[in-house]
Amino acid sequence: SLVSLRQLLDHAAEHSYGMPAFNVNNMEQVQAIMQAADETDSPAILQVSAGARKYAGEAFLRHVVLAAAETWPHIPIVLHQDHGASPAVCQCSIRSGFTSVMMDGSLREDMKTPAPYEYNTRVTAKVVEMAHAVGVSVEGELGCLGSLESGMAGEEDGVGAEGVLTRDQLLTDPAQCVDFVEQTGVDALAIAIGTSHGAYKFSRKPTGDILAISRIREIHERIPNTHLVMHGSSSVPQEWLAIIREHGGEFKETYGVPVEQIQEGIRNGVRKVNIDTDIRIAMTGAMRRLMNTDRGEFDPRKFLSQATAAAREICRARFEAFGSAGQA
Ligand code: G3H
Ligand code: 13P
Ligand code: NA
Ligand code: ZN
Repeated sequence: SLVSLRQLLDHAAEHSYGMPAFNVNNMEQVQAIMQAADETDSPAILQVSAGARKYAGEAFLRHVVLAAAETWPHIPIVLHQDHGASPAVCQCSIRSGFTSVMMDGSLREDMKTPAPYEYNTRVTAKVVEMAHAVGVSVEGELGCLGSLESGMAGEEDGVGAEGVLTRDQLLTDPAQCVDFVEQTGVDALAIAIGTSHGAYKFSRKPTGDILAISRIREIHERIPNTHLVMHGSSSVPQEWLAIIREHGGEFKETYGVPVEQIQEGIRNGVRKVNIDTDIRIAMTGAMRRLMNTDRGEFDPRKFLSQATAAAREICRARFEAFGSAGQA
């Protein structure tokens, strides 16, 4: 059944576990996540980006998620809108049945330029007012995502402008969090602690201090009732990169956030952990492998069922590692 993000993360906080939040764009991804949730007895957060809505259409995504709720009635599911660009976008999602929305006011409506703090508080407070009136939860964001290694903002293609942001600009300010939560009333807050979106996070194998763990703890101590969210949390599995390369694909050397670092984040107060890239990589690897090894195959179901199985294993591993297994 569908539940709100607040309900689920309150439970996670009470029992000290973290929830992976997986991006979904189609039926296979929803099935992979739900099969893994069922196998591990974990609740699930399914999140939908603007890109996902453009790809599949809001009605298709909604009905696929409702089909999941019908198929697995014993599993609590949060249907979350990822990175809303404006209050209008969030309002549409609330009306269409999402149980949680993210208002990303850390960026302007173009979703590229950093926005002034006053803009962020204003649009986020507006969304909280609309959402809470109908029992929907709200995630906000404060700070600019970007890896501490290179000082570059997240770039999907790995060719970002390096050195554009200082370490301080890359980390969320704990004092500002207190004011932001007071002014907006958000249920969850995405913070910048050294992660970035996409496959190209770190160019060298990350060391133990790749995330600003002490910053997570400082923020958690100041706003203990607001659930902390880590975006850009894919681990970029080297095994799958090797499979992609082995079967004709190309991937530059790249590293993600090690699972042990995420576990350390969860111990210090992180409750929601956003993952999209790992599922993309695993599905691509599985499809490339089958297309390369069984070159006569032309039934798309064969490729897609391998892709679903690969995504399912990623999800199962995260449910277990973050401690949500057994909590449904
Ligand atoms: O936040 C970024 C997510 O990975 C969604 O990406 O806009 O390509 O669907 P997308
Ligand atoms: P990744 O690109 O690391 O999977 O992060 C996804 C994300 O943060 C979606 O909001
Ligand atoms: Na989100
Ligand atoms: Zn994100």
